[in-house]
Amino acid sequence: KKSVFVNSLLKKMTLDEKLGQLNLPGAGDITTGQAQSSDIAKKIQEGKVGGLFNIKGVENIREVQKIAVEKSRLKIPLLFGMDVIHGYETNFPIPLGLASSFDTQLVQQSARIAANEASASGINWTFSPMVDISRDPRWGRVAEGAGEDPYLGSEMAKAMVFGYQGKDLSLNNTIMACVKHFALYGAPEAGRDYNTVDMSHIRMYNEYFPPYKAAVDAGVGSVMASFNEVDGIPATGNKWLMTEVLRNQWKFKGFVVTDYTGINEMIDHGMGDLQQVSALAMNAGVDMDMVGEGFLTTLKKSVQEGKVNIKQIDLAVKRILEAKYDLGLFEDPYKYCDANRTKNEVYSQANRDIARNIAAQSMVLMKNTNEILPLKSQKNIAVIGPLADNAENMPGTWSVAAKHKDAISLLAGLKKTFGNSVNFTYAKGSNIDYDATFEQNAAMFGKNTYRDSRSKEEMLKEAVEVANKADVILLAIGETAEMSGESSSRTNISIPQAQKDLLKELKKTGKPIVLVLFAGRAMEINEESELADAILNVWFPGSEAGLAISDVLFGKVNPSAKLPMTFPRSVGQVPIFYNHKNTGRPLSQSSTEKCQFDKFRSNYLDECNTPLYPFGYGLSYTQFAYNNLNVSSKNLKGNQTLKVSVELKNSGKYDGAEIVQLYIRDMVGSNTRPVKELKGFQKIFLKAGEAKTVTFNVTPEDLKFYDNNLKYDWESGEFEIFVGGDSQKTVSQKITWNK
Ligand code: IFM
Repeated sequence: KKSVFVNSLLKKMTLDEKLGQLNLPGAGDITTGQAQSSDIAKKIQEGKVGGLFNIKGVENIREVQKIAVEKSRLKIPLLFGMDVIHGYETNFPIPLGLASSFDTQLVQQSARIAANEASASGINWTFSPMVDISRDPRWGRVAEGAGEDPYLGSEMAKAMVFGYQGKDLSLNNTIMACVKHFALYGAPEAGRDYNTVDMSHIRMYNEYFPPYKAAVDAGVGSVMASFNEVDGIPATGNKWLMTEVLRNQWKFKGFVVTDYTGINEMIDHGMGDLQQVSALAMNAGVDMDMVGEGFLTTLKKSVQEGKVNIKQIDLAVKRILEAKYDLGLFEDPYKYCDANRTKNEVYSQANRDIARNIAAQSMVLMKNTNEILPLKSQKNIAVIGPLADNAENMPGTWSVAAKHKDAISLLAGLKKTFGNSVNFTYAKGSNIDYDATFEQNAAMFGKNTYRDSRSKEEMLKEAVEVANKADVILLAIGETAEMSGESSSRTNISIPQAQKDLLKELKKTGKPIVLVLFAGRAMEINEESELADAILNVWFPGSEAGLAISDVLFGKVNPSAKLPMTFPRSVGQVPIFYNHKNTGRPLSQSSTEKCQFDKFRSNYLDECNTPLYPFGYGLSYTQFAYNNLNVSSKNLKGNQTLKVSVELKNSGKYDGAEIVQLYIRDMVGSNTRPVKELKGFQKIFLKAGEAKTVTFNVTPEDLKFYDNNLKYDWESGEFEIFVGGDSQKTVSQKITWNK
């Protein structure tokens, strides 16, 4: 039925109308309600637009859709896309935070709510999930992904696609997902956004491709091309990537959209003029052109000159029309434009309560000396820091639809939770940094960072006075929302100096310090780790930030999240990730543990090899003991299933959940294998004192990898199986498994 409908529509289309379907302009002045008179409105009427993005509100969207379906010749409805990255108006933690929960159900739930709210506001397409593996925290967009691990990244990718698209894309509360940025966008040289990527094929296939593939396997409707080059050809014009890998190998059936002016940027990449690069993108297998209008303005000539085959254009148009058909837009182009739904379903209390829970589940407890947390009897609490009373920063990067001003700051959350029963006294203590330029650069397209005009000394003095009267200091410091995300790369990934000085000054008061860390990346926090008594990394927690932080600080929620990305000791260690190769000259285990330099081994003269906090790390208010790792067999053959079990005991005094992680090392391979690879995780809740046997099933599927010929298979031999609460602290057993 779909192909009959789409084919017959295609037959009626002129080449200009076909090219129109491939055109995706930004909303421009439509967001301000000027659609009727705008240039875009004219283009829509002429059939030169296939969709629009980042336009908010059902009335605005209805008005634009009306032009398409009432005034254009063929009345083809438009797609309405948006960067709904971690929530719509109800805002969830940044994706790096979501991944920290290691809880696919919660992540799926966040995407489901985001889809529900977006679809209730006229949106039918989101540019999410971003699944770019990233191992370089200098790159600002680590905030938007799931961190460094292909397995965790793949699980998160699937959860988000299922959450957005549901089981049936034609329902009015599901939206089409767009996995991005295909491919390798998370590996720019020197961590500088948009920079060159160069990587071997085995690394692509084994380490960077899996999350994109997982999204494709989960049925994602669209794919966004990345800005970077892959094997010397920009992804947007890379036929091997877009056709051979995506279509032929992975059987992707949806459509590919460029990133913002991705085609035009190939001119600066040195691939030719607009005429050439547009043809290159079309011939590579790209279907839709975001913003740049290269397809719209050049492809007719390329067809006439025989440089682009009309069949390729027809294919692209067909894919876009099919997506519109799947969404049910031909049946009812206004199906997402229901103002009642907007009123009842967007930013509802129920959604915000869920966001509060998900935020609490994403916070990583990194240090807790003397069990200072959870806070108990303290009556006088100093709440200090430039991020303590700063609502607008709470949603974090890429939160276009969020209600920034209504987000709940830490101070507001604490007061709302405890009223007058606890005395919270606030002092800002410092600006984000001394250097206003840095702050302003970061805030260029974002929120202002509330610079205080008082002198450093005045601000510190006030903070010390407040601290002196308190039982404990809650110090809210770190990055602002705009210090991570797109175009926010940093060479120095520590907390800015003004805030470091504030911490040092407060340390002199002798009061216990609980550092509430706001971070959009893995940061270098050596000094803070020494000085603070406790550290709760809250990332950017979303709309309900302050309430969720309060829930964790006071023990209503026992933290269980784990780091999806390694925290280095020094930026000089970057890229640092747990699943590295062994090398021919590895540092011995004991020198690694002692941080001892060994000549002619792979290590540094001036730094340990180990990170400050490893992948998978995160504390709880309780303790978990791992005992009796058991494997069902030590010698396996063929397609058997290995049962790996461990006794997990909550040996502390609080109820709590532990993320139990399973890692595997393939000891010998036809090409070198990582020292450890995550292959499973389970979130296990145990009451204080309770114990449980946790079991993982391992099959040969978990042992597979791409060899040098890119053959995906497993190889007979010895394997080490590890189970533990992070990637470093594990118990292990060796087994052999033969074909
Ligand atoms: O979806 C984004 C992408 O991640 C970065 N460039 C702009 C796109 C649309 O807003």
